[in-house]
Amino acid sequence: MIDPDAVLAWGAPRMRDLPWRGDRDPWRILVSEVMLQQTRAERVVERWHGFVRAFPSPADCAAVPLGDVLRLWQGLGYPRRARDLHTTAGIVGAEHGGSLPDDLGALLALPGIGPYTARAVLAFAFERDVGVVDTNIARILARTSGERLTPKHAQAQADALVPPGRGWIWNQVVMDLGALLCRPRPRCGDCPLATRCAWNVAGHPDPDPASGSAGVSTTQARFAGSDRQRRGEVMRALADRPRDADEFDGRIVDGLVRDGLVTADGRMIRLP
Ligand code: ADE
Repeated sequence: MIDPDAVLAWGAPRMRDLPWRGDRDPWRILVSEVMLQQTRAERVVERWHGFVRAFPSPADCAAVPLGDVLRLWQGLGYPRRARDLHTTAGIVGAEHGGSLPDDLGALLALPGIGPYTARAVLAFAFERDVGVVDTNIARILARTSGERLTPKHAQAQADALVPPGRGWIWNQVVMDLGALLCRPRPRCGDCPLATRCAWNVAGHPDPDPASGSAGVSTTQARFAGSDRQRRGEVMRALADRPRDADEFDGRIVDGLVRDGLVTADGRMIRLP
């Protein structure tokens, strides 16, 4: 069982100071959330500042070629995220008058915006009372209920927990609880929910209900030697100038072309 008052009393005074938390601009919030999907908050901070300075609005982003967006994304990894953000920026201009919609269905229809990111935009930009299920919050929901949850069940629980009118701070604080205490290796000694958490009260029986529960991320595959690393090398090389495709593994290049992250022009390849 989660006691919202205990969580807010624990978390509100020690909220992590992250730059997007001082912001309510939907575009800048979306950029932060897309970056945070697969990258740790500490690493995102500096890249977020650079990105939103270069592209303060969807129109600014949509106005440049995708290659310019990919150059600013260098080092964050998973560049399909940048591609989708660029596409979304264009759709927002064409279909939503230049501003992100504050509607769940309309957000979900945009490329790169799934159930998590759509609700994060609603909660953190529009201050709506929706439950956000990121990996941190998903761990808390599973452990406190003592069971692996389905996506529907996790979302319903998260929505039901939001104290009315406090969706913004609630979701931020629960995320912090997951990031700081209810970690993959939990620090239950300091947790405000320790005496109400089914898994903790039961003495941490195996398996951890968080493992395999909806929304809980699995550990990322090894980077060294992976296709992801080799794709990153090609993207980095192309950030300076076009190259001869023969400098690289054809299979890796073909994948990037198929994903719309690289353009082939005869033998030469370049960023789009
Ligand atoms: N991870 C995803 N969204 C976040 C946020 N708003 N603050 C901190 N970490 C996050």
